[in-house]
Amino acid sequence: MKKELSIALFPGDGIGPEVVREAVKILKVLESKLGLKLGLKEAPVGGAGYEASGHPLPKESLELARQADAVLLGAVGGPKWEKLDFSLRPERALLGLRSSLGLYANLRPAKIFDALIESSTLKREVVEGLDIMVVRELTGGIYFGEPRGVQVMPDGKRKGVNTEVYTEPEIERIARVAFEVARKRNKQVVSVDKANVLECTELWRQVTVQTHKDYGDVALQHMYVDNAAMQLVRNPKQFDVIVTTNMFGDILSDEASMLTGSIGMLPSASVGGNNGMYEPIHGSAPDIAGKGLANPLATILSVGMMFKYSFANEQVDAWVETAVEAVLNKGYRTRDIMSKGKEEVGTSAMGDLVAGELEKIKC
Ligand code: IPM
Ligand code: MG
Repeated sequence: MKKELSIALFPGDGIGPEVVREAVKILKVLESKLGLKLGLKEAPVGGAGYEASGHPLPKESLELARQADAVLLGAVGGPKWEKLDFSLRPERALLGLRSSLGLYANLRPAKIFDALIESSTLKREVVEGLDIMVVRELTGGIYFGEPRGVQVMPDGKRKGVNTEVYTEPEIERIARVAFEVARKRNKQVVSVDKANVLECTELWRQVTVQTHKDYGDVALQHMYVDNAAMQLVRNPKQFDVIVTTNMFGDILSDEASMLTGSIGMLPSASVGGNNGMYEPIHGSAPDIAGKGLANPLATILSVGMMFKYSFANEQVDAWVETAVEAVLNKGYRTRDIMSKGKEEVGTSAMGDLVAGELEKIKC
């Protein structure tokens, strides 16, 4: 692993700055533990980018992301910017970063910590031991397809259009990521589509089957998205790796996150380009922003994923997970995962606790 690494920090909006601040504490511990030199450079994106320069993804911020070995992002968006033209909304920063950096594969692990089983809204036996990886296609599909927009028809009424588009190479490369990921896990992939209604996802199914020929050691199954949404709450442990389109992955990963107790627990990695971007899957949560109530664990776990996927250091990912687990086992909880008999702590205290546990781990 390289000793000198540059990491772009994009705190963004809402609770983004608060959770990134805690993740930086973890980076600092890792820096001294591993004798690294981390060049941490911060820049505004999202609503913060718009306020700073009139665009959600300022040129300088994008350039910083391109130059960095990895990007850590908090969250973007908020009511303040909801009325802006679509092209200027905070969310465009995220989509712009994903596509400009070529990050076509989004890995979203939904893994439950034993200590949080009681925080899940599902029964213990349904979620205990849950460990799913959602592989979401991230730079194609209806999020990017053309034509798009709102047009005025001859009768003066408006028509809204978005288009689901996937080419064979786009499907093949994400299928390969899913099969490779499955090889290191339980070797089972469920490809989620709507092949009974959408031609585009019928092609998705065909190309996935074709690509699977190179991965005879991995089992492949197909599921329609409506059924998959139902199966995720009925019997989530049947899943190992789920591979799906951009939009279905967006929806199913939020659903999967709730199985683990809180959306505040789920990290993510976006890979496939020259570097990777790491972010919690939760949003900017404007209702609790600035109150010290946000759960920083998803962002902290995203730092672990950064070391695993961008810096080829799985050990660090395991350490971060162990540190988080130790804090949870001691009974500390942020509000979103609070349950009876536990001790509620704020965002910053939670970051300190994890940093403290991480320091204790022997290299
Ligand atoms: C996510 C988010 C984003 C998405 C939004 C904020 C653009 O929901 O990362 O899941 O839809 O991809
Ligand atoms: Mg989402």
